[in-house]
Amino acid sequence: MNLVPVIAIDGPTASGKGTIAEIVAKTLGFHYLDSGALYRLVALAAQKSNIPADYEEKLGNIAATLDARFEAGEISLGTERVTDQIRAEAVGLAASRVAALPGVRAALLQRQRDYRMSPGLVADGRDMGSVVFPDAQLKVFLTATAEARAERRYKQLKQKGITANITVLLQDLQDRDARDESRSVAPLKQSPDARLLDTTAMSIADAVKQVLEWYRGLEIGDARP
Ligand code: CDP
Repeated sequence: MNLVPVIAIDGPTASGKGTIAEIVAKTLGFHYLDSGALYRLVALAAQKSNIPADYEEKLGNIAATLDARFEAGEISLGTERVTDQIRAEAVGLAASRVAALPGVRAALLQRQRDYRMSPGLVADGRDMGSVVFPDAQLKVFLTATAEARAERRYKQLKQKGITANITVLLQDLQDRDARDESRSVAPLKQSPDARLLDTTAMSIADAVKQVLEWYRGLEIGDARP
């Protein structure tokens, strides 16, 4: 049994998982795993080598040998800094395609588990609580309506100076949800033992506060599901 605590935060695209998970990790002094970044890196590496997003064997090899580094907020692939490149919408869409391939998921499994180091880990993704860390001490399923998520993504892009169309964003997000929910391996769904956090009408600070309250409640022996 692994006693290093894990807080698993899963949920659909643009639900605020990354932002909330990172703040929770900082507050507790825990490590942070952005598992989506790994799938994005596989998609980007494939694009750079002109490998189609459904060539499972090649993509599995890319995932198994991924030369990725996460340092001081910067993400590199080999010697190239790709922090901004992997956030592109096109890379997110390609990531959701490669993430449907069992060979890719299997190749990334141990790499994700290796992040479980003392004093603890906050991991965000789609299958942190269901597959990667089934024994996580706290599992949270973070969600918000598709409209609220599209609005957030729109604002995020606008802040970065990128023009976007909210109707197109909403459609892309719904397509991605559908693909993530219907795939045969590790589909996105709330685990029965995960606590639901709907952030549609919630600020980031309140969502962080709720996760921390749940975690601290566990520490003092409050085991409510
Ligand atoms: O930022 P956003 O939530 O849109 O995406 P992300 O968390 O960076 O993940 C990108 C894609 O990788 C998702 O659409 C999922 O299909 C996939 N993914 C996954 O399958 N399993 C994970 N644990 C994390 C991401």
